[in-house]
Amino acid sequence: MRLRECRGTGKAPGAIGGIAFVVLLLVGIIIAWSAHQPAWADEGMTEKRKIPDAPAKFLEMKNPFTSLRDIKRGAKQYGSKCADCHGEEGEGDPDEPEVVIFKDKAYMATRADGQLFYIIKLGAGEEAEMEAFGPDSDVALSDKKIWQIIAFIRTLAP
Ligand code: HEC
Repeated sequence: MRLRECRGTGKAPGAIGGIAFVVLLLVGIIIAWSAHQPAWADEGMTEKRKIPDAPAKFLEMKNPFTSLRDIKRGAKQYGSKCADCHGEEGEGDPDEPEVVIFKDKAYMATRADGQLFYIIKLGAGEEAEMEAFGPDSDVALSDKKIWQIIAFIRTLAP
């Protein structure tokens, strides 16, 4: 009886060692594979972005500030706070493909003013590089200033 028990446990470490080795090998292979294969490698540009959709009450909003004066004010704000990432003329950044390109007519046609307002005011979420610029943020842009920036952004993809 005792002898059998001893034999039984005597074998176990060898088996566990073998399984652990295989598991480690698999984990190693998976890590090596994912390191050179970005998650979005085969997906389109939009798939790389994780921009939340604005709630309906934002999507219904219309820009109240679209005069030439508003556009000029928006351009100033854009130049100092947004152009670093989005590009002076909304051309984006070739090294940062997830940055939204305001020059991209086809893409911008799919974005309501209220969608842009929502993201600029509240940000694109914790994992996104697009932070919030609204009154509760460090930059603290007023709603009016945000609308003026949107009026300017719309001139980049006329
Ligand atoms: C640090 C870089 C950075 C700065 C500065 C920045 N953005 Fe962005 N912005 C991004 C990125 C990156 C995204 C895409 C977010 C994602 O993929 O999650 C984005 C997304 C957006 C969107 C989303 C549009 C949509 O499709 O819904 C808008 C609008 C926008 N930015 C406007 C602005 C404005 C206006 C400013 C200046 C007040 C600004 N951004 C400053 C990096 C930046």
